[in-house]
Amino acid sequence: MLSGKTIVLGVTGGIAAYKAASLCSKLTQKGADVHVIMTSSAKQFITELTLQSLSKNAVFSDTFDERDPSVVSHIRLADAADLVLIAPATANMIGKMAHGLADDMLSTTLLATMAPVMVAPAMNVHMYGHPAVQENMRILEQRGVMMIEPGEGLLACGYVGKGRMEEPESIVAVVERYFADKEQVKPGLLQGKKVVVTSGGTIERIDPVRYITNDSSGKMGFAIAKAAREMGAAVYLIHGHTDTAPPAGIDAEAVQSADDMYQAVLKHWQDCDLVIKAAAVADYRPAETSSSKIKKKGDMMTLDLVKTVDILEQLGKNKTNQFLIGFAAETHDVEVYAKDKLVRKNCDLIVANDVTAEGAGFRSDTNIVQVYDAKGLVEQMPVMSKDEVARRLLTIAAERMNGAVN
Ligand code: PMT
Repeated sequence: MLSGKTIVLGVTGGIAAYKAASLCSKLTQKGADVHVIMTSSAKQFITELTLQSLSKNAVFSDTFDERDPSVVSHIRLADAADLVLIAPATANMIGKMAHGLADDMLSTTLLATMAPVMVAPAMNVHMYGHPAVQENMRILEQRGVMMIEPGEGLLACGYVGKGRMEEPESIVAVVERYFADKEQVKPGLLQGKKVVVTSGGTIERIDPVRYITNDSSGKMGFAIAKAAREMGAAVYLIHGHTDTAPPAGIDAEAVQSADDMYQAVLKHWQDCDLVIKAAAVADYRPAETSSSKIKKKGDMMTLDLVKTVDILEQLGKNKTNQFLIGFAAETHDVEVYAKDKLVRKNCDLIVANDVTAEGAGFRSDTNIVQVYDAKGLVEQMPVMSKDEVARRLLTIAAERMNGAVN
């Protein structure tokens, strides 16, 4: 699974460094070419010789220990890596990464590499929960660093809680899944295409402190935006209320209401090739938005609602050469309603999800979808991660846009 992959394994100074030996061994057994860089603190917990023997490669810890005069070691390792994995990652190393410090071999290599980076934190529960550490991890995630969350349990410091480095087997599984997912992506499939993705839930204001919204986390749309970019498209992401920040490196615009989302989509509509409406858009909004907080009076209160603009329907009416994909969030009679939306909103494809099914719909990391076109069912996908659903959906769309399938 990992043969042909060069992994730079960064080991930093915490008690979990002992697990790096098992991790290094498992990665090597899976065929990866593992190059270990240790911090000086890591050497307090585990020896270079252990990791050298397991990786069958020289271990680096000193930036200035240049063994081969024809290369600069940290640049050579930074360039050779298919993945840089830091396990365990201390709070100190996470802080250095977040703020771009480079005062040792590992942090210097991290600044120099263009390879994807994965981090498996390990530390005391209070350190892990400290706002500074949380903020540093958020910065890294926004930059595209993949975090392997620590587990909960008895920590070496005696506390019970979150902070224990994920077990080596699980880290290896994450690494394998990462490379397997990457191989599914056909990089040039959307090359030269402009793709607009909507994501998240809209917010329809009642007054300055209250609003109508829904459960959308934005995960489905974010996964689509990432996959479209991996396939070579120029991606514009328009998102309402979401649980997390949009994926790093994608042009994103935050909006509130259905009407704001419509205006934002229209800015890109004329010259775009593909629109995917994964957002959960309110169908109704308050007829009036009060400029001051509505005061409590009486036992009952009636809120008048009026229809919002149906963005997808409007796009469907004005479609020229754009390929249009809608989503249908249903709780029953999924196929009937999805097909109705496909026709009524003039979509090329509709992606139906039963949002009451376990592992599907709002907030979950996975989804279960059926894709329909005007002729009927195109594909029934089993439970898959939202990233996988996104890749498969875009592959179906791209084949049709490129004329490979009618
Ligand atoms: O964000 P997550 O937590 O990852 O959850 C994903 C999801 C459940 C939100 C997603 O998979 C999904 O189903 N998105 C569509 C939600 C929705 O609004 O479905 P709908 O059946 O009500 O609307 C049908 C289509 O019309 C959708 O493409 C919607 O974006 C669009 N629409 C709806 C109303 C409106 N006023 N304007 C629209 O454009």
